[in-house]
Amino acid sequence: MINAKLPKLFYGGDYNPDQWPKEVWDEDMRLFKLAGIDVATVGVFSWAKLQPDELTYDLAWLDEVLAKLHDNGLYACLATATAAVPAWLAKRCPDVLRVDFEGRQRAFGFRHNFCPHSPSDRHYARLLASKLAERYQDHPALLVWHVNNEYGGVCYCQTCARAFRVWLKRRYGSLDAVNEAWNSSFWGHTFYDWDEIVVPNALSEYLSPTRTAFQGMSLDYARFNSDGLLECYLNEYEVLKAATPSIPITTTLMGTYQPLDYFKWAKHLDVVSWDNYPAFDTPMSQVALRHDLMRGLKDGQPFMLMEQTPSQQNWQPYNSLKRPGVMRLWSYQAVARGADTVMFFQLRRSRGACEKFHGAVIEHAGHENTRVFRECAGLGRELKALGETLLDARTEAQAAIVFDWENWWAIEYSSGPSIDLKYLNEVQQYYDAFYQQNLPVDMIGVETDLSKYQLVIAPVLYLVKPGYAKKLESFVSAGGTFVTTFFSGIVDERDLVTLGGYPGELRALLGIWAEEIDALLPTMKNRIVMKEALGPLKGEYACGLLCDLIHSEGADVLAVYGNDFYQGMPALTRHRFGQGEAWYVASSPDAAFLNGLVTHLCAQKEIVPLLPTPPGVEVTQRVKDGQAYTFVLNHGDGLARLQLGNRAMTDLLSGNVASGLVDLPAKGVMILSAVTDPQTQSPRST
Ligand code: GLA
Ligand code: ZN
Repeated sequence: MINAKLPKLFYGGDYNPDQWPKEVWDEDMRLFKLAGIDVATVGVFSWAKLQPDELTYDLAWLDEVLAKLHDNGLYACLATATAAVPAWLAKRCPDVLRVDFEGRQRAFGFRHNFCPHSPSDRHYARLLASKLAERYQDHPALLVWHVNNEYGGVCYCQTCARAFRVWLKRRYGSLDAVNEAWNSSFWGHTFYDWDEIVVPNALSEYLSPTRTAFQGMSLDYARFNSDGLLECYLNEYEVLKAATPSIPITTTLMGTYQPLDYFKWAKHLDVVSWDNYPAFDTPMSQVALRHDLMRGLKDGQPFMLMEQTPSQQNWQPYNSLKRPGVMRLWSYQAVARGADTVMFFQLRRSRGACEKFHGAVIEHAGHENTRVFRECAGLGRELKALGETLLDARTEAQAAIVFDWENWWAIEYSSGPSIDLKYLNEVQQYYDAFYQQNLPVDMIGVETDLSKYQLVIAPVLYLVKPGYAKKLESFVSAGGTFVTTFFSGIVDERDLVTLGGYPGELRALLGIWAEEIDALLPTMKNRIVMKEALGPLKGEYACGLLCDLIHSEGADVLAVYGNDFYQGMPALTRHRFGQGEAWYVASSPDAAFLNGLVTHLCAQKEIVPLLPTPPGVEVTQRVKDGQAYTFVLNHGDGLARLQLGNRAMTDLLSGNVASGLVDLPAKGVMILSAVTDPQTQSPRST
């Protein structure tokens, strides 16, 4: 449980009473209770209010807010307020300000505006965190610590440049090792003194924001920046942990946010939390992938949905309203995929500045008679009724997709073979094949233990970290099925090519070698021609983007290219290795191929869909104490007819018992659990 003080799915969101006169606060409390809200995230951007100058702290207003929350039966997700530096600090200590990619020192403004290595920012941030910890360590309303907010961005200042050199010394030990890692004899870059190393940005190694001349250096800068921001988090974490060892500490993540290596971060979060802001037209499978990835960061441990909008955003190009029922549906989608909280940004809509048109539980109208408030209150009632039932329930998948931030960075820093190669797209396509068939899949990192999985897919495993090839070999030897794709096994963690033929370290496992890699224009396609039918895979499929020209070294060739000078060369291979199989998909195939492949591989491993449904209906499962809870979510605009089979199932939301054919209305949700016979404890059938 995230915190046993509140044994239910937390319900609430960001609350900014410091932006409002006190007269409003009592009305806020009335409305929160009416909506079933039990958690308020307070103080996220309140540094300037909590500390008017270098020496003065004013926590009186926060005392009052926390007391009011407590008196009204609410809890606080208490922020450390360091996500926006105050103007006085920027004026007094300009080293807190960032230098941007173009090399311009920023003036005071905006938020998330501190240099990650600024000694002044670290000093004052830690002090503020310790003041808050000291003051509120025993406060009965304190539920979770919310450090800073959505850490992100990059800084290129001189402080960062110096810190980068220190970071490099620690990683490599010597300048020779740095020169080797970056292959700096290329273009005469050999460094003879640490001080010669400057940060890679528009003034140095970049031709455009996405084109670096030195991938190894850029990769290290990405690692360094992610680590630097993580140190900022830890700087506050330490003082909070020391004061309140039993209060969980988190900071908000952003799903598939590229600049931060969240697998590395998650080790230091007591609970993962994240902010979910799909656009009106974001495919649901993308949102699902992000939830699964956030759940995967801590090996399946439940996470917090810290923010979502009840209705609309302000920062999209078009900020469409969530249609009736959608806020509820997407809230349950998060829970279905492992969230133990449903929280919003924000509880009361701002009056001024750039978020005044961002949705909130309490809109500008200021009362409860709005569609959005009614929907929020309805959900509040349901979450209350669910009580503890779903808390800590886990997702049990036998298949996994590997996701690695460093690989992501390295692929996209790569100059060639194609600017269209986007790691996330490739991962998403494999994920979609699972999603569309309601096949449970975990998103895992390279450090995740593979022994509980039957099937592991690592799309575009370009960068192979030390020891990972061996880990995959053990997994396959022991009977696992492994799949990887084109442009895999190319480099080591320094972005230096593994010589002797691609896929380098994965060559023995896959039983193939790749001689060349062809890049296809967006208008070009090749074909994957099956040699014989393989489960649902038969005939031919389109492929594109990249085509590896591979040779078998013991792998079975299951399909070949249909076109071009490499027509007849292998496009799909399977290598028996120990007790298991290692598959190679040499190009980026169409969805029909991937669906077929995933169906076939899952069937081989007896991994079955949770429930067959019409398109647009998502099904997931969480399990607790041997009881499975099946979430059925109808994202479609029409009624969905489902076949539940002959087991009697209770819908936790409606209380109805159902079996056989069931109709789920548009945007409808069911959480089904098998009705057990009280005598035999076994599922009852109708
Ligand atoms: C982010 C921030 C919030 C708010 C929302 C608006 O997630 O954490 O403070 O700005 O975006 O969507
Ligand atoms: Zn900096």
